[in-house]
Amino acid sequence: MATRWGICSAGRISHDFAVALKTLPAEEHQVVAVAARKLEDAEEFARKHSICRAYGSYEELARDPDVDVVYNGVIHPHHLKTCLLFTNAKKNVLCEKPLAMNTKEVKEILDSAKRNNVFLMEAVWTRFFPVSVEIRRLLAQRELGEVKMVRSEFGRPLMHVPRLLQKELGGGALLSIGMYCLQLVLMVYDGEKPESVQATGVCLETGVDETVVVTLKFSKNRLATFTYSSRVALPNDAIIVGTKGTIHIPEKMWCPTSLVVNGEERRFPVPEPSLPLNFPNGTGLRYEAEEVRLCLLKGLKESTIMSHADSLLLAELEDEIRRQVGVVYSQDCQ
Ligand SMILES: NC(=O)c1ccc[n+]([C@@H]2O[C@H](COP(=O)([O-])OP(=O)(O)OC[C@H]3O[C@@H](n4cnc5c(N)ncnc54)[C@H](OP(=O)(O)O)[C@@H]3O)[C@@H](O)[C@H]2O)c1
Repeated sequence: MATRWGICSAGRISHDFAVALKTLPAEEHQVVAVAARKLEDAEEFARKHSICRAYGSYEELARDPDVDVVYNGVIHPHHLKTCLLFTNAKKNVLCEKPLAMNTKEVKEILDSAKRNNVFLMEAVWTRFFPVSVEIRRLLAQRELGEVKMVRSEFGRPLMHVPRLLQKELGGGALLSIGMYCLQLVLMVYDGEKPESVQATGVCLETGVDETVVVTLKFSKNRLATFTYSSRVALPNDAIIVGTKGTIHIPEKMWCPTSLVVNGEERRFPVPEPSLPLNFPNGTGLRYEAEEVRLCLLKGLKESTIMSHADSLLLAELEDEIRRQVGVVYSQDCQ
């Protein structure tokens, strides 16, 4: 039987997610409903993606008995409220990253999912790309020997995107793009908590982070460093260095389609989209959708690849980086 998706919000990433689902077999993935704050937005989205039901409120989506799992594509200051709406309605949830604005909110969401016995995952799509699967395989087989260093970058000129600039829209480069570097480090070091974190950076006049350099030290003298920026374009690659070898992830490390292992390149292209996309390699959102389906079929409440503990550690480190560069959200004061 197909996994029946409901899509919450008719925004940019929801569009790409709907296009990505179309690259998967229809007998495995169906979008049965979409909800937006305005009915006409939901109706337009439904027309574009051939979805039967359109709702003018998220509450109606939460009540739809035919929805197995909700894809939550609203902007992150609204993740807490919307996730709780769906978990309390006993819906499984795949929520866009960041799962919430801070650790306190992430804990509330995870507690609610557990209490309501539903599946919930932060949509860190990078982890499900074939390139990431291959990286985890190489690391598990110790092909690099002992990993000693991870370096990555994610920088794009995004000063024209209000969502990146304004605090009340969840502004700040860490939660939107820097987190991709951080999640890579945590994946490579297997969810270990670092011994130390040092962040230095610059903020915008709006009080959100713009460009930041972060250094982390892990046990056994293992290091990681990453730079993120919403001001300038960076090389946007990553490198994982071990005592016996190196993995290079060429640019677009957040949605990677190739990797170079000890100088040898391997390619893993994403499928072509049936409609124009908002984000590069957007059809790669299919891989996280496949993971959700597999978890639901197995009756799991969380994924082992992006677990609740992974989301919690990510949020704790994001809080610490923000504290060091001086970014405070209203949600931190509640
Ligand atoms: N995985 C990725 O590659 C990726 C890429 C981009 C974004 N994201 C994540 O996806 C989320 C959405 O990003 P996006 O670029 O799709 O954003 P967006 O198009 O600007 O907004 C998404 C939706 O959020 C709701 N929204 C927007 N502004 C709002 C406001 N002021 N008050 C209440 N609701 C508001 C709207 O829902 P309605 O349609 O219901 O009105 C809108 O359609 C973010 O959390 C972001 O971090 C992930």
